[in-house]
Amino acid sequence: MGIKLSDGREIPMEMHKVKIVQKTNLIPARQRLEAMTESGYNTFLLRTRDIFLDMLTDSGTNAMSDNQLAAMMVSDDAYAGSESYYKLCAAVKEVFGLEYVLPAHQGRAAEHLIAKVLVKPGDVIPMNYHFTTTRAHFEILGGTVHELFHDSALETSSALPFKGNLDVKKLQAIIEQVGADKVSFVRMEATTNLIGGQPFSLANLKEVQKLANQHNIPVVLDASLISENAYLIKQREKEYASASIRDIIQEMMACADLMYLSGRKSCAVRGGMLATNHKKYFDQLLPWLPVYEGFMTYGGMSTKEIEAMAVGIREMVDDNVAGSSVEFIKHFVNELDKRGVPVVTPPGGLACHVDAKKFVPHIPQQQYPAGALSAAIYLSSGVRSMERGTISTDRDKDGKEIMADMELARLAVPRRIFTLSQIEYTIDRVAWLYKHRNLIKGLAFVEEPPVLRFFFGKLKPMDNWGEKLVKAFEAEFGAEC
Ligand code: F0G
Repeated sequence: MGIKLSDGREIPMEMHKVKIVQKTNLIPARQRLEAMTESGYNTFLLRTRDIFLDMLTDSGTNAMSDNQLAAMMVSDDAYAGSESYYKLCAAVKEVFGLEYVLPAHQGRAAEHLIAKVLVKPGDVIPMNYHFTTTRAHFEILGGTVHELFHDSALETSSALPFKGNLDVKKLQAIIEQVGADKVSFVRMEATTNLIGGQPFSLANLKEVQKLANQHNIPVVLDASLISENAYLIKQREKEYASASIRDIIQEMMACADLMYLSGRKSCAVRGGMLATNHKKYFDQLLPWLPVYEGFMTYGGMSTKEIEAMAVGIREMVDDNVAGSSVEFIKHFVNELDKRGVPVVTPPGGLACHVDAKKFVPHIPQQQYPAGALSAAIYLSSGVRSMERGTISTDRDKDGKEIMADMELARLAVPRRIFTLSQIEYTIDRVAWLYKHRNLIKGLAFVEEPPVLRFFFGKLKPMDNWGEKLVKAFEAEFGAEC
């Protein structure tokens, strides 16, 4: 939650005690340059020992609660019939209102199963926005992804509360164009990851459901950041201002025929799952679960994580849990915005996203501005962010570059991991970098994998700009920082 101070400022408040810590290192800029060079200017290839604050992702990196850890100790490691699974089912029923549950080892495994069962070659899959693994799975099975966001969703500087909404007129048009039987399902992603963690409204979800159901098209909900989306609905959608997070989540779930999630986010564990009230989908998916994941009662997850997931699902309806990252992100974004740094506004549910097209407008998109900015943030702070732009978008079938809609450096805020002083430090260093932005130049691939190239690709900086940036940094802060 946010707390008002007597001087009128509002700051995010940590509504928890830190009981276990992991030591972190801040190596000097010169060593960071060595680490970055070795990693091919790809932050994915850095090692933890060289990272001060890891804001690569909020996936599997959230702090677990004492009750989650305690639950792991009583897990039932049966291959089949594990009591841990039935505890998960009870939590899913209680919080999500869903009957049938299939665990999977993580979110993309759930996407794989959905694609296997519901996507046929030539199908189209409309959605508010794609996620990297989602698109890969649906396209591998012969489907085509259509992103039906409102045009305004791509304006990075905005006051629109629900840039994750799906444009229902575009949905109507696509159904008319290809025919309802060619539409596998409509997918709604709770806080659109790649365009700044932006939520959709319940009003929009209901409209999508109505139209889809009129045409017998199922709605699939990607609920990976469901409680953050629900928290933002409570804050931004008038009708829900006094609703509980639990009620909002249940209402969202009731709009979907099938939901899946990466348990690594809102659930604060490492795993994933699918759930539905339609036995039909459960029966279609179940036979494939042991082929790709594991038996129904563990689905490729450790039973310890299943226990912790059941607790995490019950905890996510607490405002202080659902809002812990959101309130930090709000502070992070607003403070950078105040300093003139171009960030995605309004703040979303996943990260502070810096708009590289505006931060380094002198770098052409072919030279990966977001990748360069992400590397530069590391060099000037030791903070690891992630490129979410053209590097994260693979080439088309003919090898041509596809320019991403947005070029973002994503500073993810995992739940309950960072303190306010760590966020303040990051704000300061990113603002410093903005003043020295002309030192940042582009990147070029030296090793480019054929699929999801952002994970293992290696790049080199044009004109040796990393060295120049580090020199400027040392001149200001000294060789020790
Ligand atoms: N859907 C969304 C919306 C996601 O953000 C992710 C993962 C997935 C599906 C896939 O889930 O990783 O458990 O297999 N997002 C991570 C991120 C990787 O860093 O944003 P997964």
